Amino acid sequence: MEFEKVIRERFSARKFKNDLIDEDKINKILEAGNLAPTAKNNQPQKIYVVKSKDGLEKIDKASPCRYKAPVCLIVASDKNIAWSKGTYSTFEMDAYIVATHMMLEATNLGVDNIWIEMFDKNILKQEFNMDENIEPICLIPLGYRTDDCKPSPMHNSRKDLSEIVEYK
Ligand SMILES: Cc1cc2nc3c(=O)[nH]c(=O)nc-3n(C[C@H](O)[C@H](O)[C@H](O)COP(=O)(O)O)c2cc1C
Repeated sequence: MEFEKVIRERFSARKFKNDLIDEDKINKILEAGNLAPTAKNNQPQKIYVVKSKDGLEKIDKASPCRYKAPVCLIVASDKNIAWSKGTYSTFEMDAYIVATHMMLEATNLGVDNIWIEMFDKNILKQEFNMDENIEPICLIPLGYRTDDCKPSPMHNSRKDLSEIVEYK
């Protein structure tokens, strides 16, 4: 898909079919994340690909927002690896860029997706036995949307560029 099409056709999917995603596509999505820039190229990201019944049940304990997707990525970041200076660290920023790459590559491959921040971090850490230094940053449910899954009204509500851009 052309990049223009990817960014114009992407929308948050909130209703998924049971259909599984080819391994090949999942790998391409993960590789796209791996190509993301990170501060000092430290690559602090840690990605959990959750698709087992047991794993998806754990996701559902931590978040109401999987929307029945058959695969859910947990994008996490290792605070011990991320670039930092004093109390400042890029661990979240790095993971956001990785997640954005993966979200757009999923769209490019025709795999529907959504970015989720509504989850209980402590439950997620506990359920997936994450080390103390690993911080879950966001979830990305992946799959194929149902025929009646449409963009939410919010999707088409965008500020005018004049409200958010200033030329100096
Ligand atoms: C940082 C971030 C957090 C989000 N968290 C949630 C969430 O927890 N639950 C949800 O249903 N959608 C979530 N979304 C999706 C947004 O609601 C959605 O992107 C926004 O309304 C614009 O719609 P669109 O993605 O269809 O263009 C999140 C999106 C972002 C970027």
